Amino acid sequence: MGEATVSGGKNPALAVIPAVILADGPSVIENISVIDDVDVYCKLLEDMGARVERRVNSVMIDPDGITGFTCLGEDASRIRASIYLLGALLGRCGESRVLLPGGCDLGERKHDIHVKGLSALGATVTEDDVSIGASATRLIGNEIFFDFASVGATVNVMLAAVKAVGQTVIHNAAREPHIVDLANFLNSCGASVKGAGTNTIRIRGVRSLHGSTYAIIPDQIETGTLMIMAAATGGDVMVRGVIPAHMEALSAKLMEMGVRIEEGDDTIRVTSDGLHRSVNVKTQVYPGFPTDLMPQISVLLATAKGTSVVTETIFDSRFKFISEIKRMGAQVIVDNRVAVIEGVDKLSGTRLHAPDLRGGVALIIAALMAEGETEIHSIGHIERGYQRIDEKLRALGASIERVEI
Ligand code: EPU
Repeated sequence: MGEATVSGGKNPALAVIPAVILADGPSVIENISVIDDVDVYCKLLEDMGARVERRVNSVMIDPDGITGFTCLGEDASRIRASIYLLGALLGRCGESRVLLPGGCDLGERKHDIHVKGLSALGATVTEDDVSIGASATRLIGNEIFFDFASVGATVNVMLAAVKAVGQTVIHNAAREPHIVDLANFLNSCGASVKGAGTNTIRIRGVRSLHGSTYAIIPDQIETGTLMIMAAATGGDVMVRGVIPAHMEALSAKLMEMGVRIEEGDDTIRVTSDGLHRSVNVKTQVYPGFPTDLMPQISVLLATAKGTSVVTETIFDSRFKFISEIKRMGAQVIVDNRVAVIEGVDKLSGTRLHAPDLRGGVALIIAALMAEGETEIHSIGHIERGYQRIDEKLRALGASIERVEI
């Protein structure tokens, strides 16, 4: 049996790091992954005047040196979560302006719900071709109903509301594990956030927050990726340091495919004989099947017996990895947001390009399954979100090498 330990969550860290600037004094964030997106975020705060010290597995951030309200350096456009500084700087100084965010190209990634939410708190939000800004003489709590349970908008409104006057209630809020992590961090700093993890979040504004020491939850998507890798190789892997409750949707699908899943308190053991049944998958907001695991399970389904239908409901364009696996022999027809996958006996190694973070890691799974050698280029996408994935896989017995070109 192989063993792998999951790192701290990417998306939780990217919500907690901007939250640190709402507090007076330093915070120490533990269980932080060494990944590019976290590095970029720390650099954004440093450029704004914060003192940032990276330590082994943790980071200390003292926001006291931040005097301005802008984040317009070009690094901000490299990641999606830079948009959280819109709410965080607004909450900190009553004004904010950030470069329009980047991140993976998954189709149109709108921010109208962020704008509606912040406006409901009394902010004036203005946007030009390159940046978005918000200002308010006083943020005032309000009842907000989201048209869609957007993760990003939920984070932004939470960040702006924790120091607003009075109570904010977010209805149809996102329920993803990182929303709960952010609420727990804010509460550890003296905030009053209740209901995170349900679709109604109640935030009572407080005058000030203090810094705190806080450990980020394990990465739900890395956990799922490792579980799918274990199944894909017909392996027997103990994935350690996980929260099994966050993995219910994936575990159920894998069991339906014929994979054995055994949950411990903070472990999941995945055992597979490599022979899988086809299943249908439809991505949903949490606790449904996560869009961030859709590419990985789609690759697994490429060699399952029978026809699988995968429907992506969250993003417009998350099937770019499909053209890559088709070059390995996968039989897939994509129509808009639906992929029909006809299981084949085997995939064959070839030269591939990672199209984005999750599509990129899905190609590693395809390479593990394939006959022959596979070369994956543009791995910068993968390194945005997976800490030393090559080392973890080598420890599990994979033949994988990271090559500088
Ligand atoms: N949307 C709107 N209006 C908005 C906000 C979102 O229409 O104001 C739409 C988007 O266009 C998109 C959908 O709603 O089609 C989902 O957007 P959401 O705001 O929920 O997602 P996000 O905040 O952009 C976060 C994660 C993503 C993850 C999604 C869904 C971070 C930094 N990013 O994105 O993570 O896929 O939630 O769970 O937390 C990844 O890690 O690879 C990744 C893409």
